[in-house]
Amino acid sequence: MGQVGDGRSQREHRRWLATNQRKARRSPVWTTEQLLAEAVEGRVAERFGGSDELEQFSRDELLEGAQQVLARPQAAERTPAARPLGRRLLAAQWTLLLEHVELPDNPAVLEPCAGGSDPVVVALDVLFGDRATYATINLNRKLAGELMQRAKSLALEIHLIEDDAQSLSTYFDDATFDCVCLHHAVNDILQTAVAGLRGMDTRDIDWWPTERRMIEWLGEQHQEDGLASVGLPELKTILDGAARALRPGGAMCFDHWTWEYHLGLDWFPGELFNGLIPLAREVARSLSVPLEEITPEGLDRQWWMVLRRR
Ligand SMILES: C[S@@+](CC[C@H](N)C(=O)[O-])C[C@H]1O[C@@H](n2cnc3c(N)ncnc32)[C@H](O)[C@@H]1O
Repeated sequence: MGQVGDGRSQREHRRWLATNQRKARRSPVWTTEQLLAEAVEGRVAERFGGSDELEQFSRDELLEGAQQVLARPQAAERTPAARPLGRRLLAAQWTLLLEHVELPDNPAVLEPCAGGSDPVVVALDVLFGDRATYATINLNRKLAGELMQRAKSLALEIHLIEDDAQSLSTYFDDATFDCVCLHHAVNDILQTAVAGLRGMDTRDIDWWPTERRMIEWLGEQHQEDGLASVGLPELKTILDGAARALRPGGAMCFDHWTWEYHLGLDWFPGELFNGLIPLAREVARSLSVPLEEITPEGLDRQWWMVLRRR
């Protein structure tokens, strides 16, 4: 796997880098209308065709649903269109973000901790199909199986590594990838680390019924020492490995958000979860590889972060 993305000449890579650096990042990445267009009738819609019955909703219902799904913290799904729209809009956001980031024509992309979630995979399939190389490193076997199942109909090929993302450097050489995506993965990394300390092996658990316990443990650990002894060290190791695996000029893209509903639950550490991108930003400042923040204007830096390896 050390060869992912290799084969591009140094000259091509320099040209791509120079183009990237020249382009100003001032235009908005998306509007709700654009996202909806991608999700309901555009490139993303093609990947979901007919699977979730969105045709039954009127334009107004779809727009209202999209506004609920895209609110941060995410609003309760009061309109029936919101639920089926969720996955599509997420894929649409990642599609437009990765388009904005300007990857090369045959990008090599790494997604640590994808679990069963496919917005990055769908986005890459939309933009590049089988021209992209995609690798994910993931512990939980059941969720990884779900991702493989979801991606079956796509042209994009998935390279799945079943291991701890802290071991990234044993699989990939430095400067292998054009982009690293961490889709809603910061909490997963912290939860997994804290659960490990409490004796839980998260490879074979049924994730969703167990998640509340993991989040409660994470909240307790955060109260105890701010995650200094467990949580932050693992996050730092993973981000450092990911940053090293990026080519100079490559981008590391993060998202994370909370749901209004969760913030009202007494066991949910809402303040911590609302601050996970700012927390990752702090950790990113302490890595061995220099990164600069290039989060496009218009993306809320509480919920999104884009870094570029210098
Ligand atoms: C619930 S899934 C979430 C997937 C996606 N990030 C999302 O939020 O939609 C969490 C995944 O992250 C994985 N994970 C967490 N920490 C990890 C680590 N240190 N190494 C590899 N995988 C990890 C888990 O095994 C699980 O498959």
